[in-house]
Amino acid sequence: MILYVNACARPDSRTDRLARALLQKLGPYEELRLYDEPLRPMDAHRIALRDALLSQKDYGAEMFRYARQFAAAEQIVLSAPLWDLSFPAQLKIYLENIFVTGIVTRYSEAGLPVGLCRAKKLYYVSTSGGPYDPRFGFDQLRAMATENFGIPEAELVKAELLDIDGCDPEAILHKAMAAYGLTETTDKEDGHAT
Ligand SMILES: Cc1cc2nc3c(=O)[nH]c(=O)nc-3n(C[C@H](O)[C@H](O)[C@H](O)COP(=O)(O)O)c2cc1C
Repeated sequence: MILYVNACARPDSRTDRLARALLQKLGPYEELRLYDEPLRPMDAHRIALRDALLSQKDYGAEMFRYARQFAAAEQIVLSAPLWDLSFPAQLKIYLENIFVTGIVTRYSEAGLPVGLCRAKKLYYVSTSGGPYDPRFGFDQLRAMATENFGIPEAELVKAELLDIDGCDPEAILHKAMAAYGLTETTDKEDGHAT
């Protein structure tokens, strides 16, 4: 199953539209809308709880459900607009919740990370108002995927310069879709498996 991790806040998100055009090409998917989830950042209490559960190897605990879902996915599409040279805070909170040693990664005797995720590829879909800068968004996710989670390939799918005065954001978005061999359907739920 393809997991679609949707970190787009706006109802008419261009990033979400680009991601759905990609998903239409990839096939049926399960969607996780991060802004509809009761995600909470790690704090002292939750770190202590996580440490206690991991010391008992209780990987089935409720707080690890997002990590289990991520580790089990066959392919992952993650959508997030460029915000403040990075991605929305809700995605960072999600990453804090899935980065669980024993579920998405483990450490070898030499102390090196060994990925435990099933997916062979992660697509990172993003749009930006100005030029797209991958340094603190895509590059971070690619490092996590390839160096920690065991996902060998990460690809950026992007549309940029959407908010520049005088530019036509619809034309730019459709040109970007065409460049990736994608087309958009009007039905947002097409291909949705749940
Ligand atoms: C909170 C916020 C921060 C943003 N920061 C940047 C930025 O650092 N660089 C940039 O080029 N665009 C930035 N933008 C513009 C968005 O990346 C752009 O409008 C994007 O297409 C929005 O995606 P969406 O339509 O999926 O919401 C920002 C927009 C918002 C709302």
